[in-house]
Amino acid sequence: MSTVPAVQSLNSIYAQHVNPQWVRLLELLQMNATYERCTGAELFTTSGRRILDFLSGYCVHNAGHNHPAVVAALKDELDRSGPAMLQSHVPELAAQLAHRLTSLAGGGMERVFFTSSGSEGVETAIKFARAHTGRAGLLYAERAFHGLSCGALSLMGDPFWSQGFGPMLPDTTAVPFGDLDAVEQKLATRRFAALFLEPIQAEGGIRVPEPHYLKAVERLCRRHGTLLVLDEVQTGMYRTGRFLAAHGFGVEPDIVVLAKALSGGLVPVGAVLMSRAVSESVFSSLKRALVHASTFGENGLAMRAGLATLDVLEHEGMGPRALRMGIELRRRLAEALAPYEMVKQVRGEGMLSGIEFQAPRQMRLRLAFSSFRAVHPAMFGQVMVMRMFRDKNILTQICGNDFLVLKVAPPLVVTEGQMDEFVEAIRDVVDLAHNSAGFWTEAIGLARRASNI
Ligand SMILES: Cc1ncc(COP(=O)(O)O)c(C=O)c1O
Repeated sequence: MSTVPAVQSLNSIYAQHVNPQWVRLLELLQMNATYERCTGAELFTTSGRRILDFLSGYCVHNAGHNHPAVVAALKDELDRSGPAMLQSHVPELAAQLAHRLTSLAGGGMERVFFTSSGSEGVETAIKFARAHTGRAGLLYAERAFHGLSCGALSLMGDPFWSQGFGPMLPDTTAVPFGDLDAVEQKLATRRFAALFLEPIQAEGGIRVPEPHYLKAVERLCRRHGTLLVLDEVQTGMYRTGRFLAAHGFGVEPDIVVLAKALSGGLVPVGAVLMSRAVSESVFSSLKRALVHASTFGENGLAMRAGLATLDVLEHEGMGPRALRMGIELRRRLAEALAPYEMVKQVRGEGMLSGIEFQAPRQMRLRLAFSSFRAVHPAMFGQVMVMRMFRDKNILTQICGNDFLVLKVAPPLVVTEGQMDEFVEAIRDVVDLAHNSAGFWTEAIGLARRASNI
């Protein structure tokens, strides 16, 4: 029988066989904790710390960690020894989940293609949009994040993500998020199969568009024969208060990509929702019945996780709760952070919020801030994240495509008391950044160490 190595040696085994840089980064930021139990919005470490999760695995844990109803449904599914991945039958649970998802989405969404990740969903949307329109061009928004597979990467402008990975898909073009004229100009060329948008940009800095933007985009897409694809991988599943963020903007996309929270935080599952016409452009004949498929796509555990997660989110009224508590959270944050010049704005929708920082005006702070940013543009935000974790026991992250925005996205089960803890903690850390020389000394030391490794 093999023995389980101690945690310390598992860290080095992970570094040796999986990703040494990830372990080094966690060590540098003093965030390399070992968790033994996670429940709701709380994470418990082996060293006895209780950490509040205000990241939710980038919007995976909408239902809270290890929700008992999702866990029970998965145990039942395993216990029944049902058919799994036969690739030779009609998976009944996939039928049930597709029915639930299309009913919740409404607006002409009639078919579902199941995936095991958000990127795979974006790849699917690219293929279906091209098949449906017979066009190759793909339009996307600056600062978008759609995933790290080659097709999805081709819809992301920041070279940081794509550099070194060879040529991406041709025929992709970026437009500024929120700029209707730019969209119209591009669509008028009639070269574009689809316009890919996150209804609210998440990694782009929690950017909420003007209320009329998405509806106007939808009209332009219809006029020019381009499909509107909404990437709701982070915003969907009640994160922003509605089942889809699209519902809050009254917009009817042609394709919607879901993933992350549909998993219940336990089994990977993604779903691409689309109209019957779009689906039939791909599944157009017997010969093409499997022309687009994925081995793990409709597996029983994933479907069960999706169904159980929807049950939890609906029965516990998580959407309306996220809407209400999100407004309150942003109100409390804005009030607590108002005195601090480095806080530019608190914004968001439902339980997806961001705190945007800016360079200070006071000379004393300005010098520290800019020398620090020169080392690495993400450093300031990372030190805030590190302080929140180490000093306040709260897990957060900065946005992947805007390092000056701290993402605030707790599980939707977060309590008022936990929100208060967060507000108090971030106020203390922001206060430290404004008033303590120690904050900057430590931060500059960290920046130096980071640039040496
Ligand atoms: C908006 C959005 N789309 C797509 C993806 C890719 O999802 P995955 O990591 O499951 O491939 C992400 C991941 O963070 C995302 O935020």
